[in-house]
Amino acid sequence: MSTRTPWWIRVPVLFFLIFGLMEYFIDSGDKPAIIEYPITQFFMLMVLMILIAIEVILASIENIMFQTLSEEGKERYLAAKSKKYEWKWAQGIMKRLTRSRSIEREGEIVLDHNYDGIRELDNVLPPWWVYLFYGTIIFAAVYLVRFHIAGDYDQKLEYEQEVAAAKIAIEEYKKTAKDLVDVNTVEFLSEAADLSAGEKIFQANCVACHMADGGGGIGPNLTDEYWILGGGIKNVFNTISEGGRDGKGMVAWKQTLKPVEMAQVASYVLTLGGTTPANPKEPQGDIWVDPDAPATQPTETEPETPAMEQVSDSTEVAMN
Ligand code: HEC
Repeated sequence: MSTRTPWWIRVPVLFFLIFGLMEYFIDSGDKPAIIEYPITQFFMLMVLMILIAIEVILASIENIMFQTLSEEGKERYLAAKSKKYEWKWAQGIMKRLTRSRSIEREGEIVLDHNYDGIRELDNVLPPWWVYLFYGTIIFAAVYLVRFHIAGDYDQKLEYEQEVAAAKIAIEEYKKTAKDLVDVNTVEFLSEAADLSAGEKIFQANCVACHMADGGGGIGPNLTDEYWILGGGIKNVFNTISEGGRDGKGMVAWKQTLKPVEMAQVASYVLTLGGTTPANPKEPQGDIWVDPDAPATQPTETEPETPAMEQVSDSTEVAMN
C-alpha cells in the first residue's frame, strides 16, 4: 500500500491522460476539440467527477478494511502508511546519472594532497556527461559517412527545398487569404471560378445602372476602352471600392462587398472590355493606357519638346 502513488498525482495524471486521448482521437480541425465541441467539456467534467468518486470509494474501502485489522495490524499499517512518499525511481535515475558520492562518504575518494587546506575529490566522470560524449562521437561518425562520404545532400539543396516549400506555402496562403487584397495588391483574377463569382456579383448589384452586358445606362459603358475614372484592375477596383465622383450615382461598394468580391467583380468587368453590348452607351472619359504595360511606342507628349529643341538647335548651327 505504501508504494501507491498519492491521489493528488493519480487523479491529475489520469485526467490529463484521458484529455490527451480525447484530443488525439477527435478530429476537430484547427481548434482543440474542447473548444470546437462544447459537449466534450461536459464529458471531461464527468471524467473528473468519476475519478474523484473512485478515490472516495477506495478511501472508504481502505477505512473499512482498516477497522477489521487487529490492534497490532493497525499499528503496522499506520507505520507503513506514515512513511513519506519518496521519488524512489527518480532518485535512482539521478544517482545512476551522476554517481556522486554523498558527503558522508567523501572520505573514500579524497586524494591525499592538500594545498593550504584545499583538497581534491577523485570523482568519476558523471555518466550523463560521458554518455553525451559517446553520443557526439556516434553522431560525428554518422555525419561524416552520410554527408562527406555518401554525400546525402548539402546546404544548397536543403536551401532550395526550403524555398520551394515556402513558395508552395505562400501560394496556399494566398488562396485562403484572398480577402486581404486592397487597391495596392489587387491583381486581375483569371480563374474561371473567380470570374463566374464576379459575374454573379455583377448581375446582383450592378446591372441596374450598367446593364447586364455592361453596355451602360445610368452608369457608363464598361465595354469600351474609354474610362472616366481610369481602366485597369487597380483603378476599376478603386472605383468599385470607393465609388465614383460625388453625385454621379456610383456608390462605394466597400461597405457591401468583401475585398475579394470587389476583386472578382472588377476582374469580371475587365473581361467585358471589347465585347459588343446590345445598346452601347456613347464613350465617356478618355482612352485608358496602362502605364505599367510594356511600352510598344513612346508616349506622345514627353519626347516632343526635346526633339523640337534639337531640331531648332541644329538649324541654328547650320545657319551659322
Ligand atoms: C446606381 C447606379 C449604379 C450602380 C448600381 C453601379 N454603378 Fe458603377 N457607375 C455608375 C455611375 C453613374 C458611374 C459613373 C461615375 C462617375 O462618373 O464618377 C459608374 C462608374 C463605374 C465604373 C467606372 C467607369 C469608368 O468609366 O471609369 C465602374 C468600373 C463601375 N461603375 C462598376 C460598377 C460595378 C462593378 C457595380 C456593381 C458592384 C456598379 N458599378 C454599380 C452607376 C452605378
